[in-house]
Amino acid sequence: MIEINLAQRVVVVTGASGTIGSGIAKRFEEAGAQVVMHHHRGTPPTPSGNSMTVQADLTSTKGPAQVIEAALARYGRVDAVINNAAIQPLAGLLDMTDEQWDSMIDTNVTACHRMSQAFAHHIVGAKSEGSIVNIASIEGIAPVAGHGHYGVSKAALITHTKVAALEFGAFGIRVNSVSPGLIARTDIDKEWPEGVARWMEKAPLGRLGTPRDVADACVFLCSDMARWITGTNLVVDGGVSARPTW
Ligand SMILES: NC(=O)c1ccc[n+]([C@@H]2O[C@H](COP(=O)([O-])OP(=O)(O)OC[C@H]3O[C@@H](n4cnc5c(N)ncnc54)[C@H](OP(=O)(O)O)[C@@H]3O)[C@@H](O)[C@H]2O)c1
Repeated sequence: MIEINLAQRVVVVTGASGTIGSGIAKRFEEAGAQVVMHHHRGTPPTPSGNSMTVQADLTSTKGPAQVIEAALARYGRVDAVINNAAIQPLAGLLDMTDEQWDSMIDTNVTACHRMSQAFAHHIVGAKSEGSIVNIASIEGIAPVAGHGHYGVSKAALITHTKVAALEFGAFGIRVNSVSPGLIARTDIDKEWPEGVARWMEKAPLGRLGTPRDVADACVFLCSDMARWITGTNLVVDGGVSARPTW
């Protein structure tokens, strides 16, 4: 196992109270980073070492900048941001309300844009270097009926990743996205047996993903091993999207 050492790095993880976000936060701690564990209504993991938690509604205009400010107040630097927080409700296009559409775009796209912007302002001002990882989804590439606004939001995030990589590269900021496939959570096989069964039929590696599968990709992308990687979308789905679509 290759060990990546991120000692002295400060990493903001949004949505650290969620299934994947808590795994990402703990994995960065394991790599030696000081982690700013953002949460909204839920409870993030208990920070170890010199990590901290910060609460914010990222859909409020100032929420993302406040998270960066809280990190700077504590550590004086931020080296990486993982834009992981998101919502994933179901709704068909025909009957979708404006509120459902707006809430999806506000949370999954606009909040990530503002967070990346606030982080980039810090890096440019500090003449430092940094890394952004946006957690997208394979649904941003291959959308699912009944989940269209989510797929649109993740497609937008993949494109935002590329544009930010183009614009921020000159300032020493790398920007990448990670697109997970279906990630296991407690009782998913009881709550959604047909979804799990469908996934297993198509999965070359024969299992669902884990938060750690996603977290390892994030740690790699924030490390010096990924120093020449920017503007890419790393699919972490056990090979499911390699299948022919016809
Ligand atoms: N689970 C999967 O199979 C899967 C697959 C592909 C991609 N993804 C992506 O992976 C990421 C994490 O997914 P997950 O399954 O771990 O989701 P989750 O358990 O539902 O966690 C979502 C997180 O987003 C936060 N959040 C939601 N609305 C927010 C707001 N307005 N302001 C601030 N924070 C907010 C939540 O905070 P609180 O709980 O504190 O309120 C929570 O920490 C998402 O980007 C998702 O789209 C997931």
